[in-house]
Amino acid sequence: MAGMNQHKRHPVAWCRGRAVFPTVLVWAGLVVGPLNLGAASAPIYARQGMVVSQCAIASRVGLEVLREGGNAVDAAVATAFALAVTYPAAGNVGGGGFLLYRPAQGETAAYDFRETAPAVAHERMFLKDGVYDSKRHHLSHQAVGVPGTVAGLHLAWRDHGKLPWRRLLAPGIRLAEDGFPVSYTLAGSLKNILPQMTNYPASLAQFSRRGAAFQPGDKLRQKDLANTLRRIAARGPAGFYEGETARLLTEEMRRHGGLITGEDLLSYQARRREPVRGSYGGLEVFSMPPPSSGGVALVEMLNILEGFDLRAAGMGSAANIHRVVEAMRRAFADRAKYLGDPDCNPGLPVDRLLSKDYAGELRAAFPAGRAGASSPQDVLDEKDSRETTHLSVVDASRNAVALTYTLEDSFGSRIVVPGAGFLLNNEMGDFNAGYGLTATNGLIGTLPNLAAPRKRMLSSMTPTIVTRDGELYLVLGSPGGRTIINTILLTLLNVADFEMNIQEAVDAPRFHHQWLPDQIVFERHGISPDTLGLLEREGYRLETSPYPQGFVCAIFLNSRTGWLEAGMDHRAADAGAAGW
Ligand code: GLY
Repeated sequence: MAGMNQHKRHPVAWCRGRAVFPTVLVWAGLVVGPLNLGAASAPIYARQGMVVSQCAIASRVGLEVLREGGNAVDAAVATAFALAVTYPAAGNVGGGGFLLYRPAQGETAAYDFRETAPAVAHERMFLKDGVYDSKRHHLSHQAVGVPGTVAGLHLAWRDHGKLPWRRLLAPGIRLAEDGFPVSYTLAGSLKNILPQMTNYPASLAQFSRRGAAFQPGDKLRQKDLANTLRRIAARGPAGFYEGETARLLTEEMRRHGGLITGEDLLSYQARRREPVRGSYGGLEVFSMPPPSSGGVALVEMLNILEGFDLRAAGMGSAANIHRVVEAMRRAFADRAKYLGDPDCNPGLPVDRLLSKDYAGELRAAFPAGRAGASSPQDVLDEKDSRETTHLSVVDASRNAVALTYTLEDSFGSRIVVPGAGFLLNNEMGDFNAGYGLTATNGLIGTLPNLAAPRKRMLSSMTPTIVTRDGELYLVLGSPGGRTIINTILLTLLNVADFEMNIQEAVDAPRFHHQWLPDQIVFERHGISPDTLGLLEREGYRLETSPYPQGFVCAIFLNSRTGWLEAGMDHRAADAGAAGW
């Protein structure tokens, strides 16, 4: 699709990475220029509907669905299936995730399509002779969870979709069959991952040119994936969990000591859950409940921070970083201690963690002017996947979707199912490694998130929708493992407390503290040296990350103008906002 001049009747705003940003600024400036006064960077504006994802090609697939009369759920489903083709690092049919839906009228719904452990999983499965086996945990056929994406997207569509299911799969099938040009970024990530695919011929065949890396501009065609998508289009979830696709997946498992059986696939169920609800100032916050830790930790931190005047101290001040980091420290400790799959852990103390009273107790115990301390009793998992992906959609009626889904690592297990053309997740790595396996910068051994049959592993994905006075205000989410929760917190604070427009809020530098290791990790060049000096004097250990922290895809509804404003994260070079 050629972009702006394709749709003469309705102006289409789209932006793919930095290259076309000036075009969009011109377009946006003509329409609503005065709103940008004083802003460091402008959002992308649209009146009728908007899709923001980490891949511009997929965002435009969603936009076409909106323009054809589809609603936010239709567009999210079509975008997700397109991402499964065009963004193979995290877009998927072989992984899982969460979808939050807020209709313009009615109750917000949370869809849980997190992967589950196979029936033979058990809490010692990642130990070999009593010793933790990282490879088995993260990079093996045993690290693959039962995929949930197809079941979850179908359930949300069945409840709320308007356009035919087949229509929503069609663009993904076309992109897989005909191919699409490999971007500079995708070429780079495929080149990096190829050495890790050498044991998997189907992965090499799909993601290289007979072993040689794709160059930017080459076409990536995925015929087997196109056929899998056709089966899903024709039969719905049965096209994935039964028949040919299921046969190909379970054969791959049998050949290589994987654990997923046909019975595991048949019994997979996506779930509707009650969203987590919280408030912050005049805002109402909806987010994902367990088995994600994201919503609970986000609301816990907001409750703690509500007791401070962040605005007075100023964005980026050492005083505010201290407060935010201490809130992060406590929420991540609670995440480790208490959270896991609610279906396997009856009585999770979610109500207490979400209560304002509890937040008040935590706030009252904050150390003044010095760093708090993390106890080695509550350590977390050692590695932090950065590969997950998020998309946000708002339609003309102001129905909104926040969808985050993942393969866990970049390209998941690296294993493409031979003949089926899709990558398998390595989500079992999100279970705790084993009971009592604790170390200050290493593993966690708490009970609620140990592997068990058909259990969902704890997640940090935080698809979030915020309202004000009952009206839509903000839709957002991000990849980034546990950093996701803090990325969403900071972006929300930037809008709510520091009155940034959504693009400024997304652009602003980020930082992360997760209880243990007891350190603040800053994005490069994010904070001034004198602010860092103040924090160091308070006793904080500071680290700089070579990586960006998350890729936020956000849509803000400006109640004054009635326009949608997209915040597109330029940390992701291929990201795209498409609106009309
Ligand atoms: N695999 C990343 C997450 O679920 O948080």
